[in-house]
Amino acid sequence: MKREVPLLPATATPLEILRAGMDAASGPVSLACSFSWEDVAIIDIAHEAALKLGVFALDTGRLNEETYEVADAVADRYGISIQWYFPRHEEVERLEREKGLFSFRESLENRHDCCHIRKVEPLGRGLQGLGGWVTGMRREQSVTRGTLAPLEPDELNGGILKINPLLEWSEEEVIGYVEEHRLPTNRLFRQGYRSIGCAPCTRPVAPGEHPRSGRWWWENPEHKECGLHRR
Ligand code: ADX
Ligand code: SF4
Repeated sequence: MKREVPLLPATATPLEILRAGMDAASGPVSLACSFSWEDVAIIDIAHEAALKLGVFALDTGRLNEETYEVADAVADRYGISIQWYFPRHEEVERLEREKGLFSFRESLENRHDCCHIRKVEPLGRGLQGLGGWVTGMRREQSVTRGTLAPLEPDELNGGILKINPLLEWSEEEVIGYVEEHRLPTNRLFRQGYRSIGCAPCTRPVAPGEHPRSGRWWWENPEHKECGLHRR
């Protein structure tokens, strides 16, 4: 059953957004976790407030080893069990046999195909039975995220509530929180990475470059979404 999406003041804190979203959702709520700075900060905020937030992650099969290390450190620190979702193996086998291992570099269509198989379809399974899901998206991250709301019905996923608690935070605020609370972070951040997805589609960025310019660096900024956050 859908519920009204509460209106929040522009000054709402991440915890207030998270709490309001979890109260308004019509069922359990989980964080979609990529083990970014943002996602780990959200786990910490929820943990400190004793909120019952589940955590699920999409293992695309192409993640960096360093990302699994953060996952392990996070699970240990908070005593949580992460719900992992894998792509359908038949689909990955078909993709790799028919198009090769790096087809996503050849065209936008191929890239969307790979993201669909490895992320979007498993996401659909991850969202089954949930009343809401939480993401670590921030408005300043990209042109594609400028019009997001902290709470919005996710019409493409059955109208469940999508909760974006860090929407208004800057990268400095996120890093400040992470450092103050000494949260586990990906070692790749110390090698110049600022936004981390799958290994072959992510590279470090130079100082002064846009933080997401290392994601799908061969594409235009307006294409830089993998389909998890279509609206
Ligand atoms: S992406 O769509 O471009 O890949 P990005 O890396 O910025 O997304 O992450 C935005 C949010 O999407 C994360 O904070 C997280 O909520 C979710 N997300 C991204 N990748 C994953 C993943 N592999 N597993 C679970 N959630 C993810
Ligand atoms: Fe495939 Fe790259 Fe998308 Fe990962 S980010 S699912 S490797 S295209």
